[in-house]
Amino acid sequence: MALPKIDPTSTVAWKKLQEHFQSINGIHMEDLFAQDAERANKMTIQWEDFYVDYSKNRITEETLNLLLELAQETKLKKAIESYFSGEAINETENRAVLHTALRAKEDTNISVDGKNIIPKISEVKNKIENFTNQIVNGSKKGFSGKAFTDVVNIGIGGSDLGPSMVVSSLEFYKNHLKSHFVSNIDGDHVNEVIKKLDPETTLFIVVSKTFSTQETLTNAETIKSWFLQSAKAEDISKHFVAVSTNIEKAREFGINENNIFPIWNWVGGRFSLWSAVGLSISLTIGYRNFSKLLLGANKMDSHFKTAAFEKNMPVVLALISIWYNNFFKTETEAIIPYSQYLNRFSTYLQQSIMESNGKSIDRNGNTINYQTGSVVWGQPGTNSQHAFFQLMHQGTKLIPADFIGFAESLHENKEHQDKLISNFIAQTEALLKGKSKEDVLKELKEQKLSAEEINKLLPYKVFEGNKPTNTIFIKKLTPESLGKLISLYEHKIFVQGIIWNIFSFDQFGVELGKKLAGNILKDIKNNTFNNHDVSTLNLLHYYKNLT
Ligand code: F6P
Repeated sequence: MALPKIDPTSTVAWKKLQEHFQSINGIHMEDLFAQDAERANKMTIQWEDFYVDYSKNRITEETLNLLLELAQETKLKKAIESYFSGEAINETENRAVLHTALRAKEDTNISVDGKNIIPKISEVKNKIENFTNQIVNGSKKGFSGKAFTDVVNIGIGGSDLGPSMVVSSLEFYKNHLKSHFVSNIDGDHVNEVIKKLDPETTLFIVVSKTFSTQETLTNAETIKSWFLQSAKAEDISKHFVAVSTNIEKAREFGINENNIFPIWNWVGGRFSLWSAVGLSISLTIGYRNFSKLLLGANKMDSHFKTAAFEKNMPVVLALISIWYNNFFKTETEAIIPYSQYLNRFSTYLQQSIMESNGKSIDRNGNTINYQTGSVVWGQPGTNSQHAFFQLMHQGTKLIPADFIGFAESLHENKEHQDKLISNFIAQTEALLKGKSKEDVLKELKEQKLSAEEINKLLPYKVFEGNKPTNTIFIKKLTPESLGKLISLYEHKIFVQGIIWNIFSFDQFGVELGKKLAGNILKDIKNNTFNNHDVSTLNLLHYYKNLT
């Protein structure tokens, strides 16, 4: 069964939401809290170690009900079933979308082309586990007989962002292995990493779903040449492994068949960290912790599949985000984790969200006349408070934000933790309340300013508040809770794609730039600049004249 193909703007719920928007637009959230003492309790979802408070949004119960009607009219329930059961919902590439199968229980049965894929997944998991144990305990050694000390992940996009985000988020759980990530085609990146490495004790993982990505293959070749300055060709099999669907190409690169970890077409690059693409995660936090990450994601999958929509975290967060994007016409969403460990989280989400839902053709092949994917950005608090929060508080743009925090600190530093969490909570309160004219007046009078000075300063110091936030409060940062958090956003992406009537699992938009870069590279090498616009020609001549 294909996904439903319903234009959301043609639904009854959409029209009702448009009308409803007119009545909500001018209301301050503080009045909504004043009208209903139970608001915060009603608009909170508690599940396992997650506490999601979405009461600080410009919504009422009616808004939510209408958004839930929209989900119903666009047949979200049916789409979720198709997603988890392995139907080819990535229609433009004729593939299933089954990153959820990678973390499914062993006794699950999920068929692709009539065959249960779970045994194949378990086989690769066993391979990851054995390999991890041998590298971590030092029984697998490098060409000179020394144990490995460093692991380098060579990949880009989904073959880099997921693993590198998880490795840095779970740094607390890391073992003795040092991990490095080489992604950019910029040769300075690979050279800076190489500088820190000893070829005798470094393991390289070439991660590329297609094994045809220019950046990854170029970096892998550069590293191989560097490695061969100290080692022999037969040593490659001890130091290089690959993760790919393209076994043939990985073999051609010189990687021993036993060192190739397969992935499958039904795993999208940006959702692949749960597969062997996560090998660097398993190596640096150990297989037990890697499996806990998968377990957490699986628990969130079950919540998403079974919880009633009004108590379903991915569904509710997706609907609220649609409310701002399509009715308030907000352009961006901020993700602010109050944990330095999660400093790569919004970067990771930028790919998974924007590559998935940055689409403008609907599932009927028509150009869309409503907004789809938002621009996603953010940085950890409290640093971001001292960077861009000014604009969130007093700028002209409305920026819905997710605040993500962990109640327990991993290093148990109570003094810091109390200060961190007070900032985490205070910012959503400040964004809600703002600062009234009366409060500013009182404050300025207390400072004994003259009437003239007060009048001059007053407008700058008042801010209206009414800025929406969701608070995702989690007990503690663990492999399991991180798995849940990532999976929560994956499903939010899915819900939004369904309602916007787009295909979330292809990424044709990134292809054109790759093709043109290939053409330009040929031009640079051959010194023949043809078929370009004048600006491009000027840039090419400028580069050639300087080099
Ligand atoms: O940027 C486009 C993209 O195809 C991503 O979706 C993918 O994660 C990345 O390139 C890397 O692709 P591969 O794993 O095939 O090297």
